[in-house]
Amino acid sequence: MLVAGNWKMFKGPGETEAFLAAFEQPAGVEVVVCPPFVSLAAAVKGASVKSGVAVYAQNAHWESQGAYTGETSPEMLVELGVTGTLVGHSERRRLFGETDETVGRRARAALGAGLGVIACVGETLEQRESGDTELVLKIQVEAIGFAAGEHERLMLAYEPVWAIGTGRTATPEQAGEAHAFIKGLLDRPVLYGGSVKPENTAELLGQQGVDGALVGGASLEPDSFAAICRAAASIS
Ligand code: PGA
Repeated sequence: MLVAGNWKMFKGPGETEAFLAAFEQPAGVEVVVCPPFVSLAAAVKGASVKSGVAVYAQNAHWESQGAYTGETSPEMLVELGVTGTLVGHSERRRLFGETDETVGRRARAALGAGLGVIACVGETLEQRESGDTELVLKIQVEAIGFAAGEHERLMLAYEPVWAIGTGRTATPEQAGEAHAFIKGLLDRPVLYGGSVKPENTAELLGQQGVDGALVGGASLEPDSFAAICRAAASIS
């Protein structure tokens, strides 16, 4: 089981340091935090005290350097002591123009540089309601698989867009079905994401094919994140 906290655009270096000082990591679960870029150095420093917490970025470019204003390369992340990155989060796809092609390129380059990758996929409410969930997942997962293959450092995250930040989770059955479908396309671990909270973790992660959680809002407080990690540890 792996639990990753996606902090999005929350927590500068000071709050990052305070979080890691307060966070009690339970045994029996792998824990990842994904702070904003400016807080990665503070996180690496804080996590080295809390052995076992891995620090991932929220994105990485596909080139190692160049004229790409606002971007950060996998090699730069490695130099900082970061051990992985998210790619393809739905907010990147929806708000910042990420496509299956750029997500694939980012995943491939990050893996090539030695990073772990959590590649996010998921359908919108409109796509689910029109019966296109599997079509959308197939296109997204195959793009990642084509670019990166069944790489040992690659994980996927199934995050139905309608469940992100809405308080509305997929039912355990919906999650189980989507995870089985994704694994049929690319045989890698799949995390569930979308309104994961301490109260629903055990039920969601208890589903076959759900290998952990990608947590947004509930990862911002050390206590609620630790409660989610404990719930994950208890079923692994
Ligand atoms: P949420 O976000 O847990 O706040 O729904 C999940 C995510 O965006 O990764």
